[in-house]
Amino acid sequence: MARLKRQIHGGNIYAASRELGRDLAKLIDFSASINPLGPSPRVWRAIANARPLLAHYPDPDCWELRQTVAKLWQRSPSHIVIGNGSTELIDALPRALRIRHLLVVQPTFSEYGASMARIGGRVSAVFATRTEQYAQPIDGLCRLIEQRRTGSDAFQGVMLCNPNSPSGQACSVDDVGRLARAAQRCGVWLMVDEAFADYCPERSFIPQSSSWPRVVILRSLTKFYALPGLRIGYAVAQPTVIDLVRRQVPPWSVNAMGQVAALAALEDLAHARKSMQFMTKERERFGNLLGALPGCSVMPTQANYFFIELPRGRHAGEVTEQLRNEGLLIRDCSSVPGCNARSIRLAVRSRQENDRLIRVLSNLLHHETLS
Ligand SMILES: Cc1ncc(COP(=O)(O)O)c(C=O)c1O
Repeated sequence: MARLKRQIHGGNIYAASRELGRDLAKLIDFSASINPLGPSPRVWRAIANARPLLAHYPDPDCWELRQTVAKLWQRSPSHIVIGNGSTELIDALPRALRIRHLLVVQPTFSEYGASMARIGGRVSAVFATRTEQYAQPIDGLCRLIEQRRTGSDAFQGVMLCNPNSPSGQACSVDDVGRLARAAQRCGVWLMVDEAFADYCPERSFIPQSSSWPRVVILRSLTKFYALPGLRIGYAVAQPTVIDLVRRQVPPWSVNAMGQVAALAALEDLAHARKSMQFMTKERERFGNLLGALPGCSVMPTQANYFFIELPRGRHAGEVTEQLRNEGLLIRDCSSVPGCNARSIRLAVRSRQENDRLIRVLSNLLHHETLS
């Protein structure tokens, strides 16, 4: 187990626009993995119709949205809390559940460590390895939970990102079940971040989670529903846990437009189907093109992004900078604990945008290989 360092995020198109002196619309953002089809057309209509709501406080209970989410998962609304993005809930959980020491699997999303740092807590990590293509080390995690010594120094919570970012690897429902069993036996909280699980619904643990009082599942409407600017996420857990989380979240944190848009997005099953069909096809095509680039290793993915190792002799930071100068933003993962200096993450975007990235990256790698 090792200590964590603080990380930065992808998706800051505003900073890139200022620094490059380029219009936002002239940038292509491969660093945040958002559904390239955009939000459901129903979202635009719902927002336009909801304009009068701006003159009121938003519903602090997110009543309608919780009804819809509850129906989706065949649970009671008392099992659901909505947050200002799942990030708000990631921030609230350690305080709500009195977690002072968290165990994570690196490489992973940096906000788990950041939320612990904000409360002066501690984070330990186990590492997924390159030789296993960064598959989640479930056996190792189960062992650590089972062998955990009780005492003030022991971890009280485990955060699993499934599918994991940046690796794209996802474990099965059975694997999460094994972790849930170990966590229950040992009195540990198991939090599963399913921000990207819309892309592999058969791996979601939500349908099983009601049997496990120590399991909390996090979902986000940022990625698959393409609403990053509105900030909507939710947690599914037992009502007592949901109450604890709600007490840690400021009132009215979920804005009115976000609530209305999320409702419309979740109800548009046709757009969801179309999004999934597009991603399944385009991810395969883009993955094959990336795999054909000289010296690039492409890891298996269950999400809407690829975790890639650049050819030997290349540095992720340098390539990120070169692509950025062309208006193509990618995620440099070289500073994420457990990644190496050649690690990058690329979102799957539209066919045309993906082709543009392949062209520029291919030129760059060929050119540098020859020079
Ligand atoms: C794995 C993972 N979880 C959670 C989040 C936070 O999503 P949001 O706060 O937009 O719901 C992100 C955002 O990048 C993420 O990558």
